[in-house]
Amino acid sequence: MEESRSHTSRSLIPPSTQEILQHAQSPAWTSHTSQTGRNITIIDKEGASHTFQVADGDNILDIAQAHDLEMEGACGGSCACSTCHVIVDDPDMYDKMEEPDDDENDMLDLAFGLTETSRLGCQVKMSKALDGLAVKLPSMTRNMQASDFAAGKKD
Ligand code: FES
Repeated sequence: MEESRSHTSRSLIPPSTQEILQHAQSPAWTSHTSQTGRNITIIDKEGASHTFQVADGDNILDIAQAHDLEMEGACGGSCACSTCHVIVDDPDMYDKMEEPDDDENDMLDLAFGLTETSRLGCQVKMSKALDGLAVKLPSMTRNMQASDFAAGKKD
């Protein structure tokens, strides 16, 4: 015999009400989990360092925007622009990251001031291996999106 999900729920509050209550109690942005403990330092365009405690799974774009740092994220983190370009400060830390996939590499090719340790902030998720990561925001970004090429446009 099959039971519906609502019958197996531990709470007597209907899910929709539960979600509303959770939303009302949460701040504007929260990490992926309540667990923190990973540190990331973001060096802004003026050279000021900002260190945050974050959780595994948080990506650099979300972290920067949640703390009002200047990172545009024009495509909303869908790997279709280069406005979340960051430069990893330490080459050894860069080597600990998963390789960028083809989509990310295509977008990185459009980034202003591309370096050997450039990444797209929206594609880098914090993990144990990246604890202590430091990234710099480039002095400029180029707001060119994949759709500009698909449509055959030029800037
Ligand atoms: S926000 Fe567009 S690629 Fe990261």
